[in-house]
Amino acid sequence: MNEEIKRLRELLDKANTAYHTDDSPIMEDDEYDALARKLRELGEADDTVLQRVGAPAAFSPVAHDTPLLSLQDVFSEEELYGFCDRVESAVGEVTYCVEPKIDGLSVALRYREGTLTLAVTRGDGVTGEDVTHNAMVVGDIPKTIPDAPAVLTVRGEVYMSRKTFEALNQQRDSDGQTPFANPRNAAAGSFRQLDSAVAAGRGLSFLAFNIQAMEGRAFPDTHAETLELLKSWGFQANSYRLAVNRDAVIAEIRRIGEERRTFPYDTDGAVVKVDALTLRETLGATARAPRWAAAYKYPPERRETVVRDIRIQVGRTGVLTPRAEFDPVLLSGSTVQYATLHNREMIEKKDIRIGDTVRVQKAGEIIPEVVSVVKEKRPPDAVPFVFPNACPVCGSPVTVTEGEVAARCVAEDCPAQIVRRLIHFSSRDAMDIEGMGKETCEQLKNLPALDGLYRLTLDDLLSLDGFAQKSAENLLAAIEGSKSRGLARLLFGLGIRHVGQKAAATLARTFGSIEALVKASQDELTAASDIGPVIAESLRRYLDTDRAKALIAALSDAGVDMTAEIRKDTGGSLTFVVTGTLETMSRAEAEGRITEKGWKASGSVSKKTDYLVAGEKAGSKLDKAVALGVKVITEQEFIKMLQEHAVYAPA
Ligand code: IVH
Repeated sequence: MNEEIKRLRELLDKANTAYHTDDSPIMEDDEYDALARKLRELGEADDTVLQRVGAPAAFSPVAHDTPLLSLQDVFSEEELYGFCDRVESAVGEVTYCVEPKIDGLSVALRYREGTLTLAVTRGDGVTGEDVTHNAMVVGDIPKTIPDAPAVLTVRGEVYMSRKTFEALNQQRDSDGQTPFANPRNAAAGSFRQLDSAVAAGRGLSFLAFNIQAMEGRAFPDTHAETLELLKSWGFQANSYRLAVNRDAVIAEIRRIGEERRTFPYDTDGAVVKVDALTLRETLGATARAPRWAAAYKYPPERRETVVRDIRIQVGRTGVLTPRAEFDPVLLSGSTVQYATLHNREMIEKKDIRIGDTVRVQKAGEIIPEVVSVVKEKRPPDAVPFVFPNACPVCGSPVTVTEGEVAARCVAEDCPAQIVRRLIHFSSRDAMDIEGMGKETCEQLKNLPALDGLYRLTLDDLLSLDGFAQKSAENLLAAIEGSKSRGLARLLFGLGIRHVGQKAAATLARTFGSIEALVKASQDELTAASDIGPVIAESLRRYLDTDRAKALIAALSDAGVDMTAEIRKDTGGSLTFVVTGTLETMSRAEAEGRITEKGWKASGSVSKKTDYLVAGEKAGSKLDKAVALGVKVITEQEFIKMLQEHAVYAPA
């Protein structure tokens, strides 16, 4: 296959997965577009990678019985010493257990009476997705465990071995399908599917590395014993070595560093854990990660390449972002050709010039970045890069706000900004207009403002590239459907600086309508919980512009819903206590759903409690709630609240 086509497919596939599956984009939209355009120009317009299939339609959210914490990262031996210092100053000298860090996806497996009943992805650590159907088809995952404790939750990593990955990609290549960028993406793409037939055919593996919860048996004393116990139950457990002190830890880290490329699976580091489980409790955890473990990340691979161009891209808010384009170079498993240079300041600080040889690496092993310039290799005629004073798209002047580094195009009708605003407005988390891809947005760059969307006719859509009768009708229906998304999504979709999804949801449920927001003073805005002065000022400034006033009036005329249900209670945040036995979910699950909504779940009833969810056999907490006058609700009422909340404040 043509090398260039292959490379483009690889990059786009990676970007698709990062965007749709992992919810963490690795490149700017413009960058994606440019790559897609190039692939099309090379005659590959029908490539599946350009179809941008979304994330699977629906997995059920499940609350973890024990949160799936992350790990604190250390990037040097010095930082690793720092971790050991913190541990040892708290609990004295300890033995550590050192293991490879497998690059796959974290999964919790729940067993009841020795039978696998539930498999949940990590998600945000509190709530994940139910992937039991896929766990059932992974050979390494025991479906039954003889002599198992009554309740058991095992955590480990689902991964794809390098060998399986290579065979899969070869197969995909010869089938004309887009190859996966790396084993991690292949594992995630296979395991997070609604149809278990996909995972079944992909040869996924599983390595266990922790017991999260257990009832009916005492925990072993050490982590090493845990791994042995897991093996005795039929799991493949992670390989490990004990290190009696920090120097032994360093020696082990270095050994893994030298040998890891020969392991059957990809590793993105090594994990160092305090071996004694009782000390784990003493050391505790932050909200994100335990204090008894650290992930040592090996320094990324670096390569040299030559900068051929520095191009400026214009974003949604008009920010000009420079991007280096260099000779393609193979870096940590994939070919890279671009890296963002962020802003003018960075170019100046690193003194990056067209023609320079630069060292590039992948930050977090994913996003390419220019580390430094190899000054000795600079061509004599290389001149400092001159950052433009005018927008490269519309030619309007560029300004830099006091105290900021970003340069902005001042024109509100800059086509680049209009396209980016449309893309954002239509996106899944905003107005969710299905079928409104980037391609279409690009062709609509002459729409004077967002409300123009709602005046598009079938004929308008039919005149765009890539539309036939059916697809045009579908898009028109999707645009119509987007009118009822409600205030929270609309506010987010307007793309007001600093107003992210969470702030938009809070503002919507605190103020209830766009009119109320327009009337609110900056102080009134800041009075809403979690709305700080930066958000309030930005929103106030936006709402006061003529452009915003006209846009809001036009959207309202078009019939766009600009209301939300108000929650007067605690400015959007509610405190729940769950007690007794619930019928449809465990207490932990109920608490997970509460926090998922941005509410608080508390263990004890006080005057600050808004609702007590009372299940079967509720006892003293119910009495206390009644005594304090706290509202008591049933499980059904609680479920209804969860559902209703989702209507006007998307999580
Ligand atoms: S221990 C509470 N051990 O790394 C500590 N994690 O960056 C739980 N991972 O989400 C993590 N190999 O999925 C641990 N040997 C290993 C691991 C490992 C891979 C993953 C895990 C976690 C991520 C954190």
